[in-house]
Amino acid sequence: MDIKIANGRIITPTDNYRADIGIRKGKIVEIAKRISGGAKEVVDATGAYVFPGGIDMHTHLDMPFMGSSSSDDFETGTIAAAHGGTTCIVDFAIQGKGQSLKQTLNAWKAKARGKAVFDYGFHIAICDLTHKVLNEIPQAVAEGVTSFKTFLAYKGALMIDDGALFQILRQCNKSGALVMIHAENGDVIDFMVKDLIAQKKTAPKYHALSRPAAAEAEATSRAVAIAEMAGAPIYIVHLSCKDALEKVKEARDRGFPVFAETCPQYLILSYKNYEEPGFNGAKYVMSPPLRDRSNHAPLWQGLASGDLQVISTDHCPFNFKGQKDLGKKDFSQIPNGAPGIENRLCLIYNEGVNKKRISVNRFVDLVSTTPAKLFGLYPEKGTVAVGSDADLALFDPKKSYTIRAKTNHQNVDYTPYEGYKGKGAPRVVIAQGRVLVKDGKFLGRPGQGRYIKRKPIRLI
Ligand code: URP
Ligand code: ZN
Ligand code: ZN
Repeated sequence: MDIKIANGRIITPTDNYRADIGIRKGKIVEIAKRISGGAKEVVDATGAYVFPGGIDMHTHLDMPFMGSSSSDDFETGTIAAAHGGTTCIVDFAIQGKGQSLKQTLNAWKAKARGKAVFDYGFHIAICDLTHKVLNEIPQAVAEGVTSFKTFLAYKGALMIDDGALFQILRQCNKSGALVMIHAENGDVIDFMVKDLIAQKKTAPKYHALSRPAAAEAEATSRAVAIAEMAGAPIYIVHLSCKDALEKVKEARDRGFPVFAETCPQYLILSYKNYEEPGFNGAKYVMSPPLRDRSNHAPLWQGLASGDLQVISTDHCPFNFKGQKDLGKKDFSQIPNGAPGIENRLCLIYNEGVNKKRISVNRFVDLVSTTPAKLFGLYPEKGTVAVGSDADLALFDPKKSYTIRAKTNHQNVDYTPYEGYKGKGAPRVVIAQGRVLVKDGKFLGRPGQGRYIKRKPIRLI
C-alpha cells in the first residue's frame, strides 16, 4: 500500500463509522476496522473525519470577462481549493463568438494543462448557438463534457434567447447532457442598469438594485416552463433567494426534475455588504447579487429538505485594486464575481453543521456526493469506498481558524469573509492517492491533475 489512513471516522451521506483506509495507485483498495499491513506512509487521522474530497461544480479560473480576466489560474486556483479540502473542480469553458465546441474545450484544456494540481472537468457555456454548434453537442458529450451552461442574463455578451435555450435543452437531453441555467431576466436588468446610470446612480449597491429577486424568480420560472416544454431536466446555478427557490420547489413538487445549487455567499453575506463605506461594496458585485438576510433561512431550509442539492462556489475572483475599480465611476463596469474556492468547506461546515442547520452526512452530500452523482463523476469521486479515487479530506472538527486574504492562497487581494472565525478545517488533503496538503503546507505539483471525461447524465 502507498498510504494507510489510520483511526479516522469515515463520513458519507449515509455512513458515519471508524475505520482505516488503504490506498494504492491512486485508489482506495481497502477499508477495515483495523488494517495491520504495512504502507509506505501512514497518515494518522485520530479525531478527524474522513470526507470524500470536496467537488466544486462551479468555478471560473483564468476566465476573460467584462474587460478583465479572473485572477486565479488553474495553478493558483486549484492550490487554494486544495488547502480548503476540495480535490476536484468542474470549470466553465466559455464559447466565444463563432467558436466550435471543440475549439472551446481545447482552449480551456490548454489553460489547465500543466497547472491544475488535482482532477478537473469542464462544462461548456454555449453563448453563440448555430445549427452547427447544436450538432456538435453529442461529440462534446463523447469527449466528457456532459453539462452545458446557458445564460439568461448578460445581454449583449453571454445571454441567449428562449428559443436557443429550448433547442439546447432538447439536444442535450437526447445526448446525455444536463443544462445548467443562469436564471436572471437579462432584458429587464439591461434596461434597469441603463436607467440607473442615466440617473447618476453609479455606486456598487445599484448593481444589486438593478437585479432584484423578481428578475431571478421570473427567469427561474421561465426556465422551468421551457424545460417542461422540451421534456428535459435542468440545473439552476447560483440560486440566491427564496422567490427563485419557490419556483424550483413548485416544479419538484410536481415531480419535474429541476435541480439547483446555492453558494456560501448567499447563505452568509447580504445586501448590507454593498453599503460598506467607500467603494468597498464592489467586492461583493456578483450576479445574482447578495440578497436581504431574510433569504438565508429559506435557503438553509432548502438545503436541509433536499430542494437544493449542491453547494458550489461560483469562484470568479477579481482584485479589488486594478480590476474591481474599473467600475469606480459606473457599477455596470465592475467585473462580476467574487472569490470563494478555498473557504467553501470550512464556511459550510461551520455555518451548517456547527450551527445545527444540517447534519455532517448532509454536508458531505452537498459539497461532494450529489455533485459527483449529478454530473457524471460518481462513484470514482464523491464517496469513500473501495474502488473509488483516493481523493479525501481529513477534516479536524475542532480546528479553529480566522479567514484572512493574507493567509488564504487564492490569487486575489481580498476575501469577502475577512475576519470570519470558525471551527472545523482540513488537516490533510489527499488527491489521486497523494498527500496534497498537510497541516497547511502544499506538497503537490502543478500539472498532476488530469482532465476527467465525465459520464453521460440521464435524469429523466
Ligand atoms: O458574478 C458572477 N457570478 N460571475 C461569474 C459568471 C457567472 O454568472 O457565473
Ligand atoms: Zn452565472
Ligand atoms: Zn459562475
